[in-house]
Amino acid sequence: MSGSREHERPGPSDETPTYARGRGRRWSLGVLIRQWEIVRTHLVWGWRLHSLGKRTVLCRCCVLNNPRAVALGSYVKIHNDFILADLCPADREYPKIVIGDGTMAMFRLQCNAARSVRIGRNVLIASNVLITDSDHVVDPDGLPVTRNAKFITRPVCIGDNCWLGQNAVILKGVAIGHDSIVGANSVVTRDVPPCSVVAGNPARLIRRLDDPACTAQPLPVLI
Ligand SMILES: CC(C)(COP(=O)(O)OP(=O)(O)OC[C@H]1O[C@@H](n2cnc3c(N)ncnc32)[C@H](O)[C@@H]1OP(=O)(O)O)[C@@H](O)C(=O)NCCC(=O)NCCS
Repeated sequence: MSGSREHERPGPSDETPTYARGRGRRWSLGVLIRQWEIVRTHLVWGWRLHSLGKRTVLCRCCVLNNPRAVALGSYVKIHNDFILADLCPADREYPKIVIGDGTMAMFRLQCNAARSVRIGRNVLIASNVLITDSDHVVDPDGLPVTRNAKFITRPVCIGDNCWLGQNAVILKGVAIGHDSIVGANSVVTRDVPPCSVVAGNPARLIRRLDDPACTAQPLPVLI
């Protein structure tokens, strides 16, 4: 009986989310490794972070100085050597770093928050991206910058479904609208409207994604 039900179950289609496709599959080494990564993340970080959603994976950590300041949604993956830094641990207004469901960050993400960095859902972050809500204060008449704990801080917000290209830098006070792209090596100093492609240093608008005349066609699938 159960065998025939199994037979009737529809297989994964192109519309099935990637994370759900494995459900009907046999257990493989890849699936086991993924399960272990999830379990390890929950054992190591689950009780320390502000919140941790289901099936989220944190790979090798470089710096996570105050886990209480970090809230992660479900199905998040952050690859090796990430830095999630609370710049003002004395200020206990948590969470300061919020990462939404389904967001994926490649290697060496650095996210610094003195007060607030919000990353939306399903954001793709390429390698070596810096997101910061603060600048150090260099005071010619005061403490050396290495010992000066003051920051100039403005909150950062990245909307849902954005793609941040390799080596992108997102500076304090920036809000990036949903469904936007930040080009490789770009330095974003100003707000980005939704559905925009920005690039360069400082980042400038290249095109709009909601303009049918400018929307790139998907590449043909080569078999
Ligand atoms: C931003 C990006 C998506 C734009 O692609 P596109 O829409 O095809 O843009 P085009 O190549 O037509 O370039 C349009 C203009 O923007 C400029 N431009 C494109 N990307 C740029 C970048 N990263 N920095 C500076 N200028 C850039 C181009 O020089 C061109 O300028 P011009 O009109 O004066 O000649 C792409 O260039 C990019 O940076 N991709 C990121 C890749 C990446 O980081 N991958 C990591 C793997 S997750």
